[in-house]
Amino acid sequence: MKVSEAIKERFSVRAYLDKPVSKETVYKLLDLVRFAPSGHNTQPWEVAVLMGKTKENLSKKLIEAVNSRVERKYDFAYGYKDVPDFVKARRNACNVKVFNHKNIDPKKDKDKLKEHILENFRFFGAPVGLILMRDKRLGEEAFVDIGIFAQTLMLAALEFGLATCSQTSVAAYAELLHKELGIPDEKMIVMSMALGYPDMEAHINKLRMDREEVDAFTTFYD
Ligand SMILES: Cc1cc2nc3c(=O)[nH]c(=O)nc-3n(C[C@H](O)[C@H](O)[C@H](O)COP(=O)(O)O)c2cc1C
Repeated sequence: MKVSEAIKERFSVRAYLDKPVSKETVYKLLDLVRFAPSGHNTQPWEVAVLMGKTKENLSKKLIEAVNSRVERKYDFAYGYKDVPDFVKARRNACNVKVFNHKNIDPKKDKDKLKEHILENFRFFGAPVGLILMRDKRLGEEAFVDIGIFAQTLMLAALEFGLATCSQTSVAAYAELLHKELGIPDEKMIVMSMALGYPDMEAHINKLRMDREEVDAFTTFYD
């Protein structure tokens, strides 16, 4: 697969086949992803790989937390203080596209909406959940490195026939993740990722998101 194909073919996969991913495969994947670049080659990423019973139990606890309205609290300052209009517009367009595709009216279909949200905490049925972390003592620049690592992971996964979905929804329950997985306090949980073999027949996986044209985000200074 050409790099350009990988970039264009990757999408957030939200339904997976009931087919396990071996520990060896995850190891091989990470053995490739470790070549991602980082500032001063600091390689600040740390990964927790959740599989089998551990993943199942964690999903159960997360769903209980959502259902009992446990307060969502990240290990870092999440969210925009003052949301610019262009962000509001793109965020709304994203939600509308997903809800239309799933035939959910978020104002009326409360049960469907809840189910939709809970899918995140089941890692969309993927057999593997990855938690990406960094040390809390690092500066904000480490987020850049984690982002680059995440995209490297998502693209590399394609070569193994695997698919991914990045998630910030799960990281909102940071305290629970620390407690259940025994993740030390000095580690900052940045995001999670579903990893598995995609169910390409699933309706949700027919969804493709739009992108702005180059001119919308580029200025040439020549
Ligand atoms: C950092 C990050 C966090 C995300 N969090 C979630 C999430 O919690 N749940 C979800 O369903 N999708 C999540 N997404 C997926 C985005 O909605 C998706 O990348 C975007 O709509 C573009 O669609 P595409 O990935 O299919 O190209 C996240 C993506 C990124 C990069």
